Amino acid sequence: MSSSTSISSISNPAWSNPRTQFLSSSKDVFGSNSSSVSFRKRPNSIVSALQTPSIIQIPKQSPPNTSTGSIELMKLKELIESPSSSSPAVQQNLNVFQKLAAMALDAIEDGMKAREKLHPLPKTADPNVQIAGNFSPVPEQPVRHGLPVVGKVPECIEGVYLRNGANPLFEPTSGHHLFDGDGMIYAVKFDNGSVSYACRFTETQRLVQERAIGKPVFPKAIGELHGHSGIAKLLLFYARGMCGLLDHSQGLGVANAGLVYFNNRLLAMSEDDLPYHVRVTPSGDLKTAGRYNFGDQLDSTMIAHPKLDPVSGELFALSYDVVKKPYLKYFRFSPDGRKSEDVAIDLGKPTMVHDFAITENFVVVPDHQVVFEMSEMIRGGSPVVYDKEKVPDCFCFHLWNAWEEPESDEVVVIGSCMTPADSIFNECNEELKSVLSEIRLNLKTGKSTRRQIISPENDVNLEAGMVNKNLLGRKSKFAYLAIAEPWPKVSGFAKVDLSTGETKKFIYGEEKYGGEPLFLPRDANSAAEDDGYILAFVHDEKTWKSELQIVNAMTMELEATVKLPSRVPYGFHGTFINAGDLETQA
Ligand SMILES: [Fe+2]
Repeated sequence: MSSSTSISSISNPAWSNPRTQFLSSSKDVFGSNSSSVSFRKRPNSIVSALQTPSIIQIPKQSPPNTSTGSIELMKLKELIESPSSSSPAVQQNLNVFQKLAAMALDAIEDGMKAREKLHPLPKTADPNVQIAGNFSPVPEQPVRHGLPVVGKVPECIEGVYLRNGANPLFEPTSGHHLFDGDGMIYAVKFDNGSVSYACRFTETQRLVQERAIGKPVFPKAIGELHGHSGIAKLLLFYARGMCGLLDHSQGLGVANAGLVYFNNRLLAMSEDDLPYHVRVTPSGDLKTAGRYNFGDQLDSTMIAHPKLDPVSGELFALSYDVVKKPYLKYFRFSPDGRKSEDVAIDLGKPTMVHDFAITENFVVVPDHQVVFEMSEMIRGGSPVVYDKEKVPDCFCFHLWNAWEEPESDEVVVIGSCMTPADSIFNECNEELKSVLSEIRLNLKTGKSTRRQIISPENDVNLEAGMVNKNLLGRKSKFAYLAIAEPWPKVSGFAKVDLSTGETKKFIYGEEKYGGEPLFLPRDANSAAEDDGYILAFVHDEKTWKSELQIVNAMTMELEATVKLPSRVPYGFHGTFINAGDLETQA
């Protein structure tokens, strides 16, 4: 079933490439009872993800009482109790006024927290739910070399696999959502047959300052900013800033969601801030270079899912603002890092835009149902609101790919449609579903259609994954997606034929769970799209040990398992930097 839509475009403001066009429609589309989808020019919502909404009712569980787990917990305690001496000491040299202000504000905060304890937290803000089991944080792991490998690492894998995740430095003292955790990068480096592992915090401004102060003082976007207590926490935060107890002008972001290697720089991103530039050291360790504004070219936040065009080398990105217009902006960077002008996208309401898609000539921006209503906080609720005026059942947390089909004048978009749309933000008893879907936008008629790619009897929840990155924006046959079952855990990944729906599954093993599968092409010039390997961090919940599994994407057979020296929590998105690219790091 289709619905009427119109498509319009915006002329390119900066460069001659015609890429700067937007798909938009004049009316809502994503129909619950139809297979249509649409992207509107003046819409209001989008949903998304990474650092905001979350996921989920994480089953409460305790790690087995193994020696490894105990050691890690002890290390974490040490880490928390022994802040790094290298961090700037924000509270050093406080004058009398500042000391008094700090005492007063601490007392107010203590009173607020005491009152909060009288009311149970919702599951979406309860740290006992959100960071239970292997969602719980780990301490940093300095680089360890010569890791044991079962099987043989394919010779083509030379470089470093990196994955981002949320790893709170401090034990939460009030509401906390999985997405609120401090960014940590987990890195496995392959170097002439030797494999190393390290994990490090991304040294964000909030992490550095909180470590120096000795407790969490930055508001948590999802877990804390609800109702009147959320307003109070914001006021407390800015009061500390005005008193010189912290610097609130250098960003609030956690850099925990995505990673991209662009213009010789590894960037760690969350959609609430600028990216952070992180270097991979020759030994395989990680070192944060700093908050990165592309050489003073970017003065706004950037989402964690920028798109790197495999042919042009350009990077495409969005920025959204929850308070002031324009609520959404689009921009891009040339391969050598020159930023285009911003293109303001007119949205009626501030909307969370976690992900989008590109084709050879278009940028596809989804219009979803989750919007920000800051006034809801005054009424005691969450500012993240499900806009019921919009057509339901079309919340694509992520878009896996898109391409043009000139023969039918269509743009094809591949994504996972998640229902209920607001289940990641608000407590919900309805079972979550994430349905791999194909959305077709007709450029001539303005109509759109949507279909479920996998037959309903065989369908599974698919979230987090990718296509062959060399085909981003081009027609791709396969997608490699996490089997998000039992939700929110990931028991394996699926290789899905996007045209037929045929699905081949790889299950990590009994009581073994992972996250996003990364597809690494064996050779960019290979004729076979699936000629490559899947890399995935996997955690064994029986032995409480973690490993990296390397699976042949053509045969779907396990090629090698790297045994890791410390636990890797379930996390978010990753990337791979080839050895050659590492040599040209800035
Ligand atoms: Fe994401």
